[in-house]
Amino acid sequence: MPENAPIVSVENLKVDFPVRAGLFGRRGVKHAVRDVNLEIRPGEVLAVVGGSGSGKTTLARVIAGLTRHQGGRVLFNGHGIEPGAPDYADYRRNCQMVFQDPFSSLDPRMKVGALVAEGLRALPDVPASHYARRVEEALTNVALDPSFARRFPHELSGGQRQRVAIARALIRRPSFVIADEAVSALDVTVRAQVLRLLADLQSKFGFACLFITHDLAVVEQIADRVIVMHEGRIVEEGTRDAILDTPRHAYTRRLLNAIPILETTPAGGVELRWRNEPAAADAT
Ligand SMILES: Nc1ncnc2c1ncn2[C@@H]1O[C@H](COP(=O)(O)OP(=O)(O)O)[C@@H](O)[C@H]1O
Ligand SMILES: [Mg+2]
Repeated sequence: MPENAPIVSVENLKVDFPVRAGLFGRRGVKHAVRDVNLEIRPGEVLAVVGGSGSGKTTLARVIAGLTRHQGGRVLFNGHGIEPGAPDYADYRRNCQMVFQDPFSSLDPRMKVGALVAEGLRALPDVPASHYARRVEEALTNVALDPSFARRFPHELSGGQRQRVAIARALIRRPSFVIADEAVSALDVTVRAQVLRLLADLQSKFGFACLFITHDLAVVEQIADRVIVMHEGRIVEEGTRDAILDTPRHAYTRRLLNAIPILETTPAGGVELRWRNEPAAADAT
């Protein structure tokens, strides 16, 4: 394997969903993902940005093996990841997902310790006697006191739950993490904290990350490269700075214009303005 070969590649991916227009409407097809190509290198954070319905979650679910695709393929370390493929088990171990609200689908009667330990059950080389220590280590990594293992999900704040979700994903020591709107449901201050935590953990452990968000503002802090999706297609891609500073596609500019930024004024104050809107100083 050549150095810096992609850990995950997606080639010409197509995903269609059958749809029906109205109650007695004709059957149709929704092209949720069309001709998507991308590569993620080891340790790299690739952000996928796009408005609601642009196909981001569908793309993530196909890469994670949770949704079927109608065309193209997904490769892990250069090998296809279809169920039954020799590398499939390795892929499942190394690919983990963090969702927007993972607790909505989890058993509320399970304690945090058991929820976090769940990820270890499928790993034959980790004996059950090591679970408690691994859970403690995983909680410490996400800056939660190990005593959180004895709490129930409903006893946690939104930010704490998302930390637990991150601990659950990282306890398997994955080399690739998919975060789908992982901080989007949190309020502003907590969002910034959890985003910082995720960025710190990524640089500490060096996993590659597909970071999905509808919010271009969070991309600045975590992404190396950015892909912009619109109606199932990639409409623009580039380094984080190129996308944020010199967006070429009108759709990217629209997404960027939705982000307010804080700027220091020549007088030493701070003002809030929208990107691509001239600053007061040069609007004379
Ligand atoms: N299981 C499904 N069945 C039918 N249509 C779906 C399904 N999942 C997603 N879609 C449609 O595919 C498109 C892309 O959805 P999604 O990938 O969830 O977008 P995003 O995550 O960018 O908001 C949307 O039009 C959505 O309604
Ligand atoms: Mg989505």
